Amino acid sequence: MVITRDNAGNFRIRKAVQADLPVLVDFLARLALHVAGEPPHTLKKEERKRLMATLRSSLSDPGKLLVVAEAGDARLVGMGYLYVWRNQGIWEQSGDIECKSGIIDDVWVEPNFRKLGVSSAILRELVAFAESQGIDELILEYAASNKEAAATWSKLGFKPTGVRAAAFTTVVQSALAKRR
Ligand SMILES: CC(C)(COP(=O)(O)OP(=O)(O)OC[C@H]1O[C@@H](n2cnc3c(N)ncnc32)[C@H](O)[C@@H]1OP(=O)(O)O)[C@@H](O)C(=O)NCCC(=O)NCCS
Repeated sequence: MVITRDNAGNFRIRKAVQADLPVLVDFLARLALHVAGEPPHTLKKEERKRLMATLRSSLSDPGKLLVVAEAGDARLVGMGYLYVWRNQGIWEQSGDIECKSGIIDDVWVEPNFRKLGVSSAILRELVAFAESQGIDELILEYAASNKEAAATWSKLGFKPTGVRAAAFTTVVQSALAKRR
């Protein structure tokens, strides 16, 4: 059956609980492969353990919110995460003002449930949490090649503000060697 806005059922967004974590680890693994543009792999046992521990610790951290989207049949169909990032103003004039931003990460919606408003609903919860924490700036990153993320975030009001560049050490070393 093709899933549409009309028959998607009443998915709901709720705070993640311990029992959700194995599915969320799978979502994270698929998100990483999606961003890297790689075919499915099996996660190493150690990596699965590390991700489980990271997610578990975020469940009880008051500065973090991990939410899931749950379909009518109780299946998890999406996830999203926001944590509070605190930094002090660096100028004398800024006094003791603490700046807080909300970092959004790990947003995944199952392929059959995309373009149905699931990530918008996830964002609604994350933004409400950010507001409750006194945050008025949200930050997220996506790969330049991730067209669906670019389209989604732009629809939701995000504008690119910088470029994150990456290189293998060996590539930089060889570029530097040519400059001697
Ligand atoms: C990016 C992603 C989270 C979007 O989730 P979603 O639930 O499909 O998004 P929504 O349905 O809430 O869509 C929000 C808006 O973005 C638009 N949009 C979503 N996907 C789009 C796409 N592939 N192309 C163009 N527009 C798109 C929607 O049309 C909607 O706008 P509209 O209501 O005006 O039509 C989902 O595609 C996904 O999980 N992708 C793989 C993982 C990923 O890339 N995560 C983001 C990492 S930063």
